[in-house]
Amino acid sequence: MSKQTKWVKEDPNNKFVFWPSEEMKKKAWISDESIYEEAAKDPVSFWAERAKKGLEWIQLWTETYQWNPPHYKWFINGKINASYNAVDRHNKTWRKDKAAIIWEPEPVNEPKRVLTYKDLYRDVNKFANVLKTLGVKKGDCVGIYLPMIPEVQIAMLACARIGAIHSVVFSAFSGESLNNRMVDAKAKILVTADGYHRRGKIINLKVNADIGVRNTLVKHVIVFKRANNEVNMVEGRDLWWHELMEEAPIYCEPEVMDSESTLFILYTSGTTGKPKGIVHDTGGYLTVAYLTAKWDFDLHDDDIFWCTADIGWITGHTYSCYGPLLNGATILIYEGALNFPEVDRWWEIVEKYGVTIFYTAPTAIRMMLRWGEEWPKKHDLKSIRLLGTVGEPINQDAWMWYFNHIGNGRCPVIDTWWQTETGATLINALPGIGPFIPTVAGRSFPGTTHDILDETGQPVKIGEGGYLVQKSPFAPGMLRGIYRDPERYKAQYWSIYGDRIYYTSDGAIWWDDLGNIRLTGRVDDVMKVAGHRLSTAEVENALTQHISVAECAVVAAPHDVKGEVPIAFVVLKQDVSPSHTLENALFNQVVRVIGPTAKPARIVLTDALPKTRSGKIMRRILKALVKGEMIGDVSTLMNPETVEDLKKKVNQTD
Ligand code: WT7
Repeated sequence: MSKQTKWVKEDPNNKFVFWPSEEMKKKAWISDESIYEEAAKDPVSFWAERAKKGLEWIQLWTETYQWNPPHYKWFINGKINASYNAVDRHNKTWRKDKAAIIWEPEPVNEPKRVLTYKDLYRDVNKFANVLKTLGVKKGDCVGIYLPMIPEVQIAMLACARIGAIHSVVFSAFSGESLNNRMVDAKAKILVTADGYHRRGKIINLKVNADIGVRNTLVKHVIVFKRANNEVNMVEGRDLWWHELMEEAPIYCEPEVMDSESTLFILYTSGTTGKPKGIVHDTGGYLTVAYLTAKWDFDLHDDDIFWCTADIGWITGHTYSCYGPLLNGATILIYEGALNFPEVDRWWEIVEKYGVTIFYTAPTAIRMMLRWGEEWPKKHDLKSIRLLGTVGEPINQDAWMWYFNHIGNGRCPVIDTWWQTETGATLINALPGIGPFIPTVAGRSFPGTTHDILDETGQPVKIGEGGYLVQKSPFAPGMLRGIYRDPERYKAQYWSIYGDRIYYTSDGAIWWDDLGNIRLTGRVDDVMKVAGHRLSTAEVENALTQHISVAECAVVAAPHDVKGEVPIAFVVLKQDVSPSHTLENALFNQVVRVIGPTAKPARIVLTDALPKTRSGKIMRRILKALVKGEMIGDVSTLMNPETVEDLKKKVNQTD
């Protein structure tokens, strides 16, 4: 990183602009600014060329892009297989002996595992055959509920190999959450583990998996033995991974897949209580996963890429699986908690393996910042040459801390904006071009177009806030729909500004006339809690299922480390009296129904919620209350007196 820092504007929120070092410029795949203009001239050809060069197609497409609002297709009639591109291709070259996946277990005294591309090839083929033997066919859905172990990538790629659709569910989600997803996806098989290590304890995943498959179409549960703990195996239904693999034939012919066929679905939170299955295609997704992994993180053969996201999120799919593997890169995955046994575990791992590219969430950086710089200082972090962030807006302090104490002022910080829906990064600076500006993500990735609009649909001026949208041609990896819910797809993304403009639900500001964008956060009822996407309605649903709850409203409150946290306002049924036990039961209710990530930071018990005369809960008032903002006019409320009462309760520290 060049030491030259330029002052741009006298803005108290943002003072620094950094540019790539000569070394970075020399090494980077992309260091010529002209790429933006070149791609903008003919984005469809730009993508076609990258898809052709970067991937191996069984058959090339006959038409590159088709747009029938609000639907679009890429690489029409193209044939391709994702697993072939991620594994077989490299297994045919010197890379067969290169590490594909390095796995670090949580227990410090347990040995690491390293899978070369050859190992990955063997296991993917075998597991693909296992799935086939169990009757999985092209187009069937396979649920994957695994911790961060290499079997997760093996299972995903095995599905892709035979044309089955994978639906990965975050291992910290509850059995009930898993169940909803298995039902919605009509999954036939669930792949899980006996358990995993988390903060020194063994978590029994199989117990949740058993709840997850209740009353579903799941015929078999494949269980990987990770933790060696006692689990209950249901005769005829549950099968051990290692036993199945022993008997599996060593080669499985990859299916010829249509480029537009579904590679996977991934459930994410929307504004209702029901998570939506985001549908991703094959060829388009692979193209952007491949290209963004290569260009954003400047992936080279000697890199060790560590994306700390769990595979249960889109970041894990694209940057702990498809993106780097398509590039023949080495990825590192870690099973456990960032602060186990000590808060420098991540830096110990970086040092141990010589990680060169490190990608994490602002919430983790803020936590590290709190723990202090003495922890990273204990380790040699010189191997790192590029840093990335994702998942939520990053504040300047966290950015600068990351830049100085992890990157030692040498490494660009690539702040990548994207969504489960977009499949891959879309707005960020490129490492060989820059600029890298704290709190500003950067420009639209070459070949994509974003705009920022006001409420009436007019573009806003530089420095003014508005809503971020994307315009055609839509990035090839954009979602193709919401699983079995076409109406929700239209309503969610293509109704605010019509069916020709993709609405992101994010607020944004043009930073300058170069096209740099600052993201300001969600504008809907989706929270980002420690980087995890969660809807307030889901938490409300979980709470109202409790027998003592009459009604409730959940809103997001700002939090120094987690970014946002849910605060629940709960009205108990008339005959129920409040108690600590009951409060605890309510916290547990949310953990049981959704998972620990959704646990409210506070539950405020109240006699009433502020309502309009027509009986609608005024969430706007609750939001203002938890943010400490002006409440405004309450005279139109049915029960204005509740506001004062709630104000007292919110401000009371317990
Ligand atoms: C939402 C999408 C993209 C993978 C992980 C999150 C927020 C994401 C940034 C960023 C500001 C960001 C947005 C977006 N977001 N990246 N760099 N700066 N905000 O995927 O769970 O689908 O969440 O995360 O609000 O809409 P997701």
